[in-house]
Amino acid sequence: EDIGSFRSQLLHWYDQTKRELPWRTVAMTEQDINVRTYAVWVSEIMLQQTQVATVIDYYNKWMKKWPTVEKLAKATLEEVNQMWAGLGYYSRGRRLHEGAQKVVSELGGEMPRSTDKLLKQLPGVGRYTAGAIGSIALGQVVTGVVDGNVIRVLCRARAIGADSTSPAVTEALWKIADTIVDPQRPGDFNQAMMELGARVCTPKNPLCNQCPVKSHCHAFKKVSVKQEKDCRTL
Ligand code: ADE
Repeated sequence: EDIGSFRSQLLHWYDQTKRELPWRTVAMTEQDINVRTYAVWVSEIMLQQTQVATVIDYYNKWMKKWPTVEKLAKATLEEVNQMWAGLGYYSRGRRLHEGAQKVVSELGGEMPRSTDKLLKQLPGVGRYTAGAIGSIALGQVVTGVVDGNVIRVLCRARAIGADSTSPAVTEALWKIADTIVDPQRPGDFNQAMMELGARVCTPKNPLCNQCPVKSHCHAFKKVSVKQEKDCRTL
Protein backbone atom coordinates (compact mmCIF):
# COMPACT_ATOMS: atom_id res chain seq x y z
CA GLU A 1 0.00 0.00 0.00
CA ASP A 2 0.91 3.61 0.39
CA ILE A 3 3.73 3.12 2.85
CA GLY A 4 5.79 6.01 1.51
CA SER A 5 3.08 8.51 2.33
CA PHE A 6 2.50 6.99 5.78
CA ARG A 7 6.22 7.36 6.53
CA SER A 8 6.55 10.90 5.28
CA GLN A 9 3.42 12.13 7.05
CA LEU A 10 4.44 10.52 10.32
CA LEU A 11 8.02 11.81 10.14
CA HIS A 12 6.92 15.30 9.15
CA TRP A 13 4.65 15.40 12.22
CA TYR A 14 7.49 14.07 14.39
CA ASP A 15 9.93 16.71 13.12
CA GLN A 16 7.40 19.46 13.88
CA THR A 17 6.14 18.32 17.26
CA LYS A 18 8.61 15.94 18.91
CA ARG A 19 9.62 16.53 22.48
CA GLU A 20 13.27 17.52 22.89
CA LEU A 21 14.46 14.74 25.14
CA PRO A 22 18.08 14.60 26.33
CA TRP A 23 18.84 11.40 24.39
CA ARG A 24 17.46 13.02 21.22
CA THR A 25 19.59 16.18 21.13
CA VAL A 26 21.86 17.24 18.31
CA ALA A 27 24.79 16.95 20.71
CA MET A 28 23.83 13.30 21.06
CA THR A 29 23.83 12.64 17.32
CA GLU A 30 27.32 14.15 17.17
CA GLN A 31 28.63 11.97 19.96
CA ASP A 32 31.00 9.15 19.29
CA ILE A 33 29.13 5.96 18.51
CA ASN A 34 30.19 4.18 21.70
CA VAL A 35 28.87 6.99 23.87
CA ARG A 36 25.71 7.28 21.83
CA THR A 37 24.96 3.58 22.06
CA TYR A 38 25.61 3.62 25.79
CA ALA A 39 23.39 6.68 26.26
CA VAL A 40 20.48 5.24 24.30
CA TRP A 41 20.86 1.95 26.17
CA VAL A 42 20.60 3.78 29.52
CA SER A 43 17.57 5.77 28.34
CA GLU A 44 15.74 2.76 26.92
CA ILE A 45 16.27 0.68 30.08
CA MET A 46 14.96 3.56 32.21
CA LEU A 47 11.99 3.99 29.85
CA GLN A 48 11.03 0.31 30.04
CA GLN A 49 8.75 0.71 33.04
CA THR A 50 8.90 4.42 33.76
CA GLN A 51 7.29 7.43 32.11
CA VAL A 52 9.32 9.86 30.04
CA ALA A 53 8.68 12.81 32.39
CA THR A 54 10.16 10.91 35.34
CA VAL A 55 13.07 9.46 33.39
CA ILE A 56 14.53 12.81 32.25
CA ASP A 57 16.00 13.82 35.64
CA TYR A 58 17.30 10.35 36.41
CA TYR A 59 18.87 10.08 32.98
CA ASN A 60 20.61 13.46 33.27
CA LYS A 61 22.00 12.65 36.72
CA TRP A 62 23.13 9.21 35.61
CA MET A 63 24.94 10.52 32.54
CA LYS A 64 26.60 13.24 34.58
CA LYS A 65 27.97 10.71 37.06
CA TRP A 66 28.77 7.98 34.51
CA PRO A 67 29.18 9.55 31.07
CA THR A 68 30.74 6.43 29.54
CA VAL A 69 30.38 2.69 29.83
CA GLU A 70 33.89 2.52 31.39
CA LYS A 71 32.84 4.89 34.17
CA LEU A 72 29.72 2.87 34.86
CA ALA A 73 31.72 -0.35 34.98
CA LYS A 74 33.84 1.14 37.80
CA ALA A 75 30.86 2.15 39.92
CA THR A 76 29.78 0.02 42.88
CA LEU A 77 26.40 -1.65 43.01
CA GLU A 78 25.57 0.51 46.03
CA GLU A 79 26.13 3.67 44.01
CA VAL A 80 23.98 2.29 41.21
CA ASN A 81 21.14 1.38 43.55
CA GLN A 82 21.36 4.79 45.17
CA MET A 83 21.11 6.47 41.78
CA TRP A 84 18.16 4.27 40.88
CA ALA A 85 16.25 5.05 44.13
CA GLY A 86 12.68 5.97 43.26
CA LEU A 87 12.65 4.51 39.73
CA GLY A 88 11.53 1.04 40.81
CA TYR A 89 12.36 -2.35 39.33
CA TYR A 90 15.94 -2.21 40.64
CA SER A 91 17.04 -5.18 38.57
CA ARG A 92 17.12 -2.79 35.61
CA GLY A 93 19.89 -0.72 37.17
CA ARG A 94 21.73 -3.83 38.26
CA ARG A 95 21.65 -5.20 34.71
CA LEU A 96 22.98 -1.93 33.28
CA HIS A 97 25.85 -2.20 35.74
CA GLU A 98 26.49 -5.87 34.94
CA GLY A 99 26.26 -5.13 31.23
CA ALA A 100 28.79 -2.31 31.51
CA GLN A 101 31.22 -4.59 33.34
CA LYS A 102 30.79 -7.22 30.67
CA VAL A 103 31.36 -4.70 27.87
CA VAL A 104 34.59 -3.58 29.53
CA SER A 105 35.94 -6.98 30.57
CA GLU A 106 34.80 -9.11 27.61
CA LEU A 107 34.23 -6.75 24.68
CA GLY A 108 37.20 -4.43 25.05
CA GLY A 109 35.00 -1.53 26.13
CA GLU A 110 33.16 -1.48 22.82
CA MET A 111 29.37 -1.44 22.96
CA PRO A 112 27.80 -4.06 20.67
CA ARG A 113 27.47 -2.61 17.15
CA SER A 114 24.39 -4.42 15.88
CA THR A 115 20.87 -5.11 17.04
CA ASP A 116 21.59 -8.81 17.09
CA LYS A 117 24.67 -8.38 19.28
CA LEU A 118 22.87 -5.98 21.59
CA LEU A 119 20.23 -8.67 22.09
CA LYS A 120 22.74 -11.45 22.69
CA GLN A 121 25.37 -9.61 24.68
CA LEU A 122 23.56 -7.25 27.01
CA PRO A 123 21.62 -8.55 30.02
CA GLY A 124 18.11 -7.13 30.28
CA VAL A 125 17.97 -6.23 26.58
CA GLY A 126 15.20 -8.06 24.74
CA ARG A 127 13.80 -7.82 21.24
CA TYR A 128 12.12 -4.48 21.75
CA THR A 129 15.01 -2.75 23.52
CA ALA A 130 17.60 -4.12 21.10
CA GLY A 131 15.50 -2.82 18.19
CA ALA A 132 15.13 0.57 19.84
CA ILE A 133 18.87 0.95 20.55
CA GLY A 134 19.84 -0.49 17.15
CA SER A 135 17.59 1.90 15.26
CA ILE A 136 18.07 5.03 17.39
CA ALA A 137 21.79 4.84 18.18
CA LEU A 138 23.13 2.78 15.28
CA GLY A 139 20.67 3.80 12.56
CA GLN A 140 20.22 0.17 11.69
CA VAL A 141 17.22 -0.84 9.67
CA VAL A 142 15.82 -3.27 12.12
CA THR A 143 12.41 -4.64 12.50
CA GLY A 144 10.29 -1.81 13.77
CA VAL A 145 9.77 -1.88 17.50
CA VAL A 146 6.58 -3.12 19.08
CA ASP A 147 5.73 -1.90 22.57
CA GLY A 148 2.38 -1.21 24.20
CA ASN A 149 1.91 2.11 22.43
CA VAL A 150 2.91 0.76 19.05
CA ILE A 151 0.62 -2.27 19.44
CA ARG A 152 -2.33 0.07 19.92
CA VAL A 153 -1.40 2.26 16.94
CA LEU A 154 -0.94 -0.72 14.63
CA CYS A 155 -4.12 -2.51 15.75
CA ARG A 156 -6.14 0.60 15.09
CA ALA A 157 -4.43 1.48 11.83
CA ARG A 158 -4.94 -2.05 10.54
CA ALA A 159 -8.26 -2.59 12.36
CA ILE A 160 -7.01 -5.70 14.08
CA GLY A 161 -9.71 -6.61 16.56
CA ALA A 162 -8.09 -9.83 17.75
CA ASP A 163 -6.43 -10.20 21.13
CA SER A 164 -3.19 -8.30 20.72
CA THR A 165 -1.52 -10.29 23.50
CA SER A 166 -1.80 -13.59 21.63
CA PRO A 167 1.54 -14.79 20.24
CA ALA A 168 0.18 -15.00 16.68
CA VAL A 169 -1.07 -11.41 16.73
CA THR A 170 2.14 -10.18 18.34
CA GLU A 171 4.13 -11.89 15.61
CA ALA A 172 1.91 -10.35 12.93
CA LEU A 173 2.44 -6.91 14.49
CA TRP A 174 6.24 -7.33 14.40
CA LYS A 175 5.94 -8.19 10.71
CA ILE A 176 3.85 -5.10 10.03
CA ALA A 177 6.30 -2.95 12.00
CA ASP A 178 9.11 -4.48 9.97
CA THR A 179 7.38 -3.60 6.71
CA ILE A 180 6.54 -0.01 7.53
CA VAL A 181 9.74 1.17 9.29
CA ASP A 182 11.46 3.86 7.22
CA PRO A 183 14.84 2.48 6.08
CA GLN A 184 16.22 6.02 5.76
CA ARG A 185 15.35 7.06 9.30
CA PRO A 186 14.59 3.95 11.34
CA GLY A 187 15.33 5.54 14.74
CA ASP A 188 13.15 8.58 14.12
CA PHE A 189 10.41 6.45 12.62
CA ASN A 190 10.30 4.14 15.63
CA GLN A 191 10.32 7.03 18.07
CA ALA A 192 7.59 8.73 16.05
CA MET A 193 5.42 5.62 16.41
CA MET A 194 5.99 5.60 20.19
CA GLU A 195 5.29 9.31 20.35
CA LEU A 196 2.09 8.96 18.32
CA GLY A 197 0.85 6.28 20.71
CA ALA A 198 1.75 8.33 23.77
CA ARG A 199 0.36 11.68 22.67
CA VAL A 200 -2.28 11.22 19.96
CA CYS A 201 -3.36 7.61 19.57
CA THR A 202 -4.02 7.33 23.31
CA PRO A 203 -5.88 4.44 24.96
CA LYS A 204 -8.90 6.61 25.76
CA ASN A 205 -10.26 9.45 23.65
CA PRO A 206 -7.60 9.40 20.94
CA LEU A 207 -7.07 12.77 19.25
CA CYS A 208 -7.85 11.47 15.77
CA ASN A 209 -8.31 14.91 14.24
CA GLN A 210 -4.67 15.72 15.15
CA CYS A 211 -3.35 12.46 13.81
CA PRO A 212 -0.85 12.80 10.95
CA VAL A 213 -1.72 9.37 9.54
CA LYS A 214 -5.48 9.29 9.97
CA SER A 215 -5.96 8.99 6.21
CA HIS A 216 -4.20 5.62 6.50
CA CYS A 217 -6.12 4.44 9.53
CA HIS A 218 -8.72 1.75 9.03
CA ALA A 219 -10.20 2.28 12.48
CA PHE A 220 -10.59 6.01 11.84
CA LYS A 221 -12.32 5.45 8.50
CA LYS A 222 -14.61 2.83 9.96
CA VAL A 223 -15.56 5.09 12.82
CA SER A 224 -16.25 8.12 10.68
CA VAL A 225 -18.47 6.03 8.41
CA LYS A 226 -20.31 4.07 11.02
CA GLN A 227 -20.16 6.59 13.87
CA GLU A 228 -19.17 3.85 16.23
CA LYS A 229 -16.38 3.50 18.71
CA ASP A 230 -15.33 0.17 17.33
CA CYS A 231 -11.61 -0.54 17.40
CA ARG A 232 -10.78 2.96 18.59
CA THR A 233 -11.49 1.60 22.03
CA LEU A 234 -8.88 -1.15 21.70
N1 ADE B 1 9.70 5.02 25.29
C1 ADE B 1 10.62 4.08 25.04
N2 ADE B 1 11.61 4.57 24.28
C2 ADE B 1 11.31 5.86 24.03
C3 ADE B 1 11.93 6.90 23.31
N3 ADE B 1 13.09 6.69 22.69
N4 ADE B 1 11.33 8.09 23.26
C4 ADE B 1 10.15 8.26 23.90
N5 ADE B 1 9.52 7.34 24.58
C5 ADE B 1 10.09 6.14 24.65
